[in-house]
Amino acid sequence: MTSAASPAPVLQFDERVALAVQLGLTSRPKRLPAWLFYDEAGSRLFDAITELPEYYLTRTERGILAAGASGMIADAAPGARVRITELGAGSADKTRILLKAAVARQRRVIYEPVDVSPSALRAARQRIESEIAGVTVAPRVMDYTHGDGDRLHLGPIGRDERRLVLYIGSSIGNFEPHQAARLLRRVRAGLKAGDSFLLGVDLVKDEATLLAAYDDAAGVTAAFNRNILVRLNRELDAGFDPHAFAHRAVWNRARSRIEMHLVSRKAQCVPFDALDLAVPFAAGESIHTENSYKYLPGQAEALLAAAGFAATATWTDPCCWFSVCLGVAV
Ligand code: AVI
Repeated sequence: MTSAASPAPVLQFDERVALAVQLGLTSRPKRLPAWLFYDEAGSRLFDAITELPEYYLTRTERGILAAGASGMIADAAPGARVRITELGAGSADKTRILLKAAVARQRRVIYEPVDVSPSALRAARQRIESEIAGVTVAPRVMDYTHGDGDRLHLGPIGRDERRLVLYIGSSIGNFEPHQAARLLRRVRAGLKAGDSFLLGVDLVKDEATLLAAYDDAAGVTAAFNRNILVRLNRELDAGFDPHAFAHRAVWNRARSRIEMHLVSRKAQCVPFDALDLAVPFAAGESIHTENSYKYLPGQAEALLAAAGFAATATWTDPCCWFSVCLGVAV
């Protein structure tokens, strides 16, 4: 019963999180969307992953950018000034390499980081403007992954400029192939002919290297994976014991993807007090939390072509572990 002196507690939770749980944990096999990783703690854990010896992706892509940046900028905007727009910018760490190359070429450059997190954008702006003279940061808070329309609205640019959209870091690998194709089509529809798109993809390689990158010895990726459960405990009043779930990374060769799972160590029932829901788990039952697709050489170029870009150049590392491809809008 509710009285004026003690009103019923108002349950506040994010509808999107609640819906993801209701759909994902009542389906078979159980799944949760990977965007749930990225609360504050998860974003910090991801930053730590990028520094792990096993997680070759970040340092390999950084090496490719360092070696190829001036060519990338020149190829993106021959005879014109470039404006750089970055999807899912986050901390914009590797982007600084490209920004420095753009400043070396044209003295001043406008950089538009696009992200859902206003705090990440604020931090990126502060850091970049204080570190690289000549860069004006114009952040945009936008969820580019969930738009309804067929076109990504990136805003106008100057007549003497060409836009270069960056989507680096292998983020495209976390999309299902049909979603990746749709995202590229939406980006293309938001560009003019002659603008361009720089895409970073992780390439298929030996299984041991792939598995180690997603199951490191220090257990940082395991903590990142389990952080989803910690988040649901906090946001939905759930009753997960995170250590009652084992982190598992699997190389699914047939689908060319690393899968991350949380596997229940025992039969258990997890309550979600905020949702009036209880979810049973059998011993060994998994929650599929992420796919990270790995591309074969030539696949990223084909993806770009299918979206209306001419794939004009590809840069890779000496081991061919990662590739950065430039597509010019046609
Ligand atoms: C953000 N994304 C590119 C990472 C990846 O490699 O798929 C996310 C990640 N998951 C586990 N480790 C890193």
